[in-house]
Formats: sequence, structure tokens, C-alpha cells
Amino acid sequence: MRSVSLASTLALVAQLASAQTFQRLGACPKLGCILPPDQTDFLSGQLFDIRVEVHAPVNGSEASNNGVPDEKFTFCIAHEKGDCVEAQKFFKLKDSPAVEKWSFTYFEDLFTKDAGTPVLVNAATKAYRALSLTQPGSYTAQLKYNNGSKTLANWVVRKPQTKRQAKNVLFFIGDGMTQSMITAARLIAHKAINGKYQTLMQMDQMENLGHQMTHSIDSFITDSANSATALYTGKKSTVNALNVWRDSSADPLDDPKVETIAELFRRKIGGALGIVSTAFIADATPAALCTHTRERGQAQVVVQEYLNSAEYINSTIKWPTGCKQPDVIFGGGAEYFIPGPNSPNGTDYYKAFQDKGYKVVYDKDQLAAASKNEKTLGIFSARNGLIILPQNLKGHKDSPTGDGSDATNQPGLKDMTLKAIEILQARSKKDGWFLMYRFFCIDGMSEGASIDKMMHVLDYDRALGELLELDDTIRASIAYLKKIGELDNTLIVVTADHGHGFDVFGGADTKYLNAQSTDRKKRGAVGVYQNSGLSGYMVADGSLPTNQTIVYGPQGPNFPVQWNPRYALAAGFGASPDRRETYGLNLEGPRVPATSGTDGFVVNPADNQGGFIVSGTLPVGEAQGVHSLTDVSVFANGPGSDAFRGVYNSVDIFFKIADALALGKN
Ligand SMILES: *[C@@H]1O[C@H](CO)[C@@H](O)[C@H](O)[C@H]1NC(C)=O
Ligand SMILES: *[C@@H]1O[C@H](CO)[C@@H](O)[C@H](O)[C@H]1NC(C)=O
Ligand SMILES: *[C@@H]1O[C@H](CO)[C@@H](O)[C@H](O)[C@H]1NC(C)=O
Ligand SMILES: *[C@@H]1O[C@H](CO)[C@@H](O)[C@H](O)[C@H]1NC(C)=O
Ligand SMILES: *[C@@H]1O[C@H](CO)[C@@H](O)[C@H](O)[C@H]1NC(C)=O
Repeated sequence: MRSVSLASTLALVAQLASAQTFQRLGACPKLGCILPPDQTDFLSGQLFDIRVEVHAPVNGSEASNNGVPDEKFTFCIAHEKGDCVEAQKFFKLKDSPAVEKWSFTYFEDLFTKDAGTPVLVNAATKAYRALSLTQPGSYTAQLKYNNGSKTLANWVVRKPQTKRQAKNVLFFIGDGMTQSMITAARLIAHKAINGKYQTLMQMDQMENLGHQMTHSIDSFITDSANSATALYTGKKSTVNALNVWRDSSADPLDDPKVETIAELFRRKIGGALGIVSTAFIADATPAALCTHTRERGQAQVVVQEYLNSAEYINSTIKWPTGCKQPDVIFGGGAEYFIPGPNSPNGTDYYKAFQDKGYKVVYDKDQLAAASKNEKTLGIFSARNGLIILPQNLKGHKDSPTGDGSDATNQPGLKDMTLKAIEILQARSKKDGWFLMYRFFCIDGMSEGASIDKMMHVLDYDRALGELLELDDTIRASIAYLKKIGELDNTLIVVTADHGHGFDVFGGADTKYLNAQSTDRKKRGAVGVYQNSGLSGYMVADGSLPTNQTIVYGPQGPNFPVQWNPRYALAAGFGASPDRRETYGLNLEGPRVPATSGTDGFVVNPADNQGGFIVSGTLPVGEAQGVHSLTDVSVFANGPGSDAFRGVYNSVDIFFKIADALALGKN
């Protein structure tokens, strides 16, 4: 028995080493690393960089070769059953890249992290830039190092569609939007009689439905940067990385890059490109169309790449593609344009855009008046300030011009989309257009003082409100495309980048809850199964707070009759900090569930007073909810949309859109 258990212990240790959460380098289980790693699929002709690395840990469990990395490694590539050809020759490069050397550290596990003893690793590496593979089929890349050790990477160039089906693509991303949120939004905004809905969400009425798996390359929970990378490039990546595979160097701009759907669309077809976001325009999900950096936080780089992508910010590294100045950029984030500490080089970046021929608009009226024929930059507030509730616009001094006033005259979300389509339609001629519309608010990470919290801060009502706004914008876009005769030419895809562990499990009698004196009695207000009742949001029950209309936004068709009913949704989160629940609407503004205590975050005493306390499940250092594992839905209409049926990986969405546009045709 003992020897068996020793063997199984060894097997377990081997497994742990490859499933570790503290990695030396993601997607690189051995001491030799190939980026793009094993299991990468390419579109024929898609540009990408390669980085190979050989690691020599000085100490820790993998310490080898006295910490001296093998600089004499070899790297070759084989197509199908052909010979493995040395990379420089394979790609017909004039020069062989020089060996670069550096060191980095990482923690092997939580114990060494607590002890403050990171492993020190020396690395010898090479980078091959701006390559492509055009022949469909399988490829094997092989790195040989340390006297016979080998790392293999299997790549596939998928067989591309050569017949273009869609002229235009309208791509909506509801950041963090799961099917359980769509279901809850439907419940509060659409009337059901005896279990049968009388109206439906626009998403419910799309022609094709699928769902996608959102895993990162090196962790099963994703963030918005690397999930956007998967959607836009067809490549898995690491948390915080935008359109690069994370390498081990210190420089966040030298990691191996890969071409995005927007760059391909510009380079191969030359159609019009639009980017609209309800958050700051340098944030991960919009930025991911055009930007290449390991650190999504590099907002200046993002803004520069919108403008100068062809001449990459770091001129020592050539990247001969780019978004080439999108025709439409609408969103928040004025601080990256107003000359100051956040703007690139401290310069006036509005002027930089104007110098390149952009019309710049700052508010709703200027947007409405803007010509449809000009490239247009619309920055409507500082930070994430795009706010739906007019009374919440006051006092933030978020004016996009930086004059210190409030950004009170912002366009609505529908205004932005319809204007974007109008401009793209006018500028695109026969080549078609690609518009990405990202609804951030559903997921909003909190930075500023605006409505950007929602699901992360467990503010269910506002999150569902944003989701209904997204649905209404999709509805209006479809109507507009029909009106201008482009609906049948346009592939419309609606999806999310990841989920949150949110669901509804019953109803809550908020009046009863508030009247009880103890936590355990308050929990009696939650009705499950037959006591969950019916949606209180679709009946005007006379208990509307008098200030209800200014408390939370839209009502009317496709929105709740009221937002704060006595019988509310009892909803919860798969993971949260310590919190208090009343299940009522937060009247004063977005929720702050937890505040800083002596040893981490604790229940915010001001949040949901009169509610009952729910113990958190997250590390006490987390103040908010986090993303979750769930697959997310994909809805699609129009030419090429049949391909979106079924269950697939996030990276497949890139290939499906690329096929609809025939971007892999050489
Ligand atoms: C490895 O070596 C470095 C540099 O000497 C040191 O700082 C670190 O604590 C060592 N780590 C371990 C796990 O011994
Ligand atoms: C490779 O072989 C040489 C000569 O035997 C030896 O000096 C070196 O340490 C070996 N390197 C590795 C990484 O094992
Ligand atoms: C540009 O890339 C080089 C080579 O990786 C690096 O040394 C340098 O720091 C980078 N420059 C900037 C401005 O990031
Ligand atoms: C920043 O300013 C310097 C000096 O004016 C200029 O040489 C450089 O090109 C600027 N860089 C960018 C990225 O605009
Ligand atoms: C709205 O009404 C509630 C009670 O009816 C009150 O507590 C709250 O302060 C009011 N909010 C605003 C923004 O006036």
C-alpha cells in the first residue's frame, strides 16, 4: 500500500506542477517556451510575432544549470509532415534575431509569497517579428535546448472562407453579461401572464444562439483584456494582456503581438471602422481592437495606437499593420486627450486627432450636428462618466474639454450607435464597415464617481438597467439598419466577454424584511419556489417612492414599470465580499458593499441599512464581486450568422466573423 501511495503522491505532485496558479510564465510548463504556444490557431495571412525563451531558474524547485540559460537553443518549424526548417529560413528572414537576455522573479506558491522568497530566473530569448502563415494545415514549432530538451507547439492555420458573406459587422459586447442576467432583465422589464411573456427582449428574438467558453490561456477565469483578445484575434492570452502573448521581459510593449480583426479589416478590405464604448475609450475592451500591450493600464499607448498604429509607439519594434485611424471613436476618458499628466507626452491629444483630420465633438448637440462624412472623435466626459441618469451628472466636473464644468449634455447610448452607423455608412462606400459597441456598465470596475459599478459592486438593479439599455440599443440599431436598407448586409453579433456568478433565487418582501429585528428573521422575507411570486416590477403597486423617476432611469416599453417594488428579486452572487442585503433598490446611487477594515474589507455600515449580513467567500482583500467561470451566450443575425450556433470557444468568434468577411482570403 505504501509504495502505491508514494506513486500516487508523485503523480499528484507532477499534476500540481502543471496546474499551478503561480506560474513562471503562462502557457510555458517547461523551461523552453514558444509563444504563440501550443494549440494556437491562425487565420491565413494574420500577422503575428514569435518569442522563444529558455529559462534557467537560479533557485526554487526547477533550479537548473547553475542559473545559466542555454543561449545555443535552436528553433525550427515544420508544415504538415515536412522537415523542421530553421525559423529564419522558414520565414525567409534577412537576419537572424539577436539573443536577448534578462532576469525575472516569480513566486512558486502562497507559502513562498508569504515568506517573500521569489524564484530568480535567468532567460535567453529571441523574437521574430511580423510574420504570417498562409498555407492552411498543421504546423509544428520545435525549440531544442539544454542538450536535448524539447518544447513543441502545434499550430493550425484554419482553412479560410473565400466568399464574403457580410458587408458590415455590428458587434455588441455586454461586458460581464450572462444568460442569468438576461433572464432577470427579461423578468423585470417584460410582462408575463400565467408564465407566458407578452413581449420579449431583442436578444431573445435573434436568429441564432450559441455559447462560448471564456477561459484564459493560463487561468480558467478571464479578465476583460484577454477575453477581448480572444474575441478580436482568435488567440487566448493572459489577464491584462491586449493582443499579445505575455513574455517574461520587463518591457510591456515588446511582447509578441497578433493582428486583430479590426487591423485585418483595415489592411485587407479597407472598410470603415468604428469603436463606441460607454466607458473610457482607453479601457480594455475597446482598446483591444487596436492595441498591443501586456498591460491594459497603459492608456496613453492605447490612445496613441488609435492614431498612429502603423508607426508603433516603440519604433524599435515594427508592427506593419494597425487600426489606421478609426472613422468613429466615441466614449469617455477625456483625461487622455486634455494636455496634462495623463495625455501622451503631456500634449493636447484632441489637437493631435484634429491634425490628422478628425472632427472632435464633446456633447450631444455637437454629435447630432456633426457631418456624416468626417472621421469623428467624440469624447463626452472624463473617466467613465457616461451616465444615463441626468441628475447623476452633476458635481463630477467631468467635462470633456477640461474646463472644470459638469458633463451634463451627453448623448444617449442609442444616439451614439445610430450616429456611428450613419458616419460609417457614409464613409465606407462599397467596402462595408465594422462597428464594435461595448456596454461597459454591466461589468463596470469602479474607478471614478460615476455609475460604473454595477455587477462588481453587487448593484443588481443598475446592472439589469444597463443590460436593458443594451437591448434597447440593439433594437434601435436593427430598426435603423432596416430603414437605410443595410440590415440584410449586416452580420450582427451580441455576446459578452465573461460572466459574473449572479442569479435570482426567489422573491423578497422588502416591507416585511425591513420590519424584522434580527438577521435570521429578515431572511424569512425571502420567498423561494411557490413563494417567489410574480415580478413586482411590472405592476404599479402604489408604493413608488415619490422621487422614483429621478432615482433610477428608464421606464416604458421594454423597461420596468417601476424599479423599486415591495416584492423585489432575491438575487445573489457566487462570490462576494462580506455584505448586507435588503434586496431593495439603492436609492442614493450605486452600491458600495464593503469598506476597508483593520484586516481587509468588511460590510459597509452605510450599505443596505436594515438588511441582513451575508458572509463573503472571497479573500478579504477583495472589495467587490469578481468574474466567474460560466459560458456566455452569443446571439447572431444576418449573413454568416448560422455559424454562431452551438457551443464553441471564445477564440472561434474571431474566425466566424473573419469568415463572414472572407478576411482569410489571400
Ligand atoms: C532565490 O534567489 C534570490 C536572489 O538571491 C533570493 O532573493 C530569493 O529569496 C531566492 N528564492 C528562494 C526560493 O530561495
Ligand atoms: C550540456 O552539456 C554540457 C557538456 O556536457 C554541460 O557542460 C552543460 O552543463 C549541459 N547543459 C545542460 C543544461 O544540461
Ligand atoms: C522599446 O523596445 C525596446 C526593445 O524591447 C526596449 O528596450 C525599450 O525600452 C522600448 N521603449 C519603450 C519606450 O518602451
Ligand atoms: C514626445 O515628445 C518628444 C519631444 O517633443 C518627441 O520627440 C516625441 O516624438 C514625442 N513622442 C510621442 C509619442 O508623441
Ligand atoms: C428619495 O426618497 C427616499 C425616501 O422616500 C429618501 O430617503 C431619499 O433621500 C430620496 N432621494 C433623493 C435623491 O431625493
